[in-house]
Amino acid sequence: MSESNLLFDVKDLAVRYPNGEYALHHVNFSVESPSFMAIIGPNGSGKSTLLKAALGLIQPTRGFIKMMGYDSVRDSHKIQRMVRYVPQRDQIGLNIPMKVKDIALMGRLLKKSPPRFASSKDKRIAKEALKQVDMLELWERPFPELSGGQRQRVLVARALAGKGSILILDEPLAGTDAESQRLIVDALEEYHQNNDVSIIMVTHDLNPIHKMVRSVLLLKRTVIGIGAPCSIMDVELLTKVYGPTARIVEYAGHRYCVTHDSGIDRHE
Ligand SMILES: Nc1ncnc2c1ncn2[C@@H]1O[C@H](COP(=O)(O)OP(=O)(O)OP(=O)(O)O)[C@@H](O)[C@H]1O
Ligand SMILES: [Mg+2]
Repeated sequence: MSESNLLFDVKDLAVRYPNGEYALHHVNFSVESPSFMAIIGPNGSGKSTLLKAALGLIQPTRGFIKMMGYDSVRDSHKIQRMVRYVPQRDQIGLNIPMKVKDIALMGRLLKKSPPRFASSKDKRIAKEALKQVDMLELWERPFPELSGGQRQRVLVARALAGKGSILILDEPLAGTDAESQRLIVDALEEYHQNNDVSIIMVTHDLNPIHKMVRSVLLLKRTVIGIGAPCSIMDVELLTKVYGPTARIVEYAGHRYCVTHDSGIDRHE
């Protein structure tokens, strides 16, 4: 029951959906806390399923997944209090007429007990977070009117403004241009450096973040690799997952992955 220093402790985890499909099987890994961690893998490799299992939103069919020693099934309330979660873009409802400020403040209010009122401190922190991703000017704008990339930035700000020692972001860079990516990545890095928090981020492109993440989990329904970014940026591992066109290039002393997912070889 007690807190451990393992951000993740996963043993023999399998998750099967009601249609009988195993999204994950024989998943075993652990990651020390605090960490800035990336989860990569192609579409359908079980990345979102792993996060949902960790949060207790889906039950394991076998094995267990623990965060900070808390079991996803037994301690799901504790986990949900500890975690700020930004779901994948297609799972965010746009029919609620909330303004940018309401979304950012939600990060502050969600973990309060009712009645939930925003204090001046809540507003200051929400504004600071929006400023970090250059969205403060849109404070009064209805959220559904924003572009996809602007929405991603507001959702990242909501996570930054929130409470809880773990941030989980499912593809925060999806559909964003280079400028939005830079703002999001820089804001997350700065936040990780200045606060005692772990950040877990699903991404299709390791390149914008490989210099700052401490560990990378490469997933394809099971663990294909886990370790420091340079150990995962390995042709043998990447071709197992992304096929024979995956490559590593070295430029200015850094390694970059070239996979269909990273988009670099888009024009091949
Ligand atoms: N609610 C569901 N019911 C049935 N099968 C599902 C459900 N959600 C996901 N799956 C299946 O589980 C597998 C893993 O899906 P998941 O969403 O975890 O992949 P992912 O790695 O996050 O992919 P993406 O990069 O496209 O977001 C897929 O084959 C998917 O079809
Ligand atoms: Mg997903």
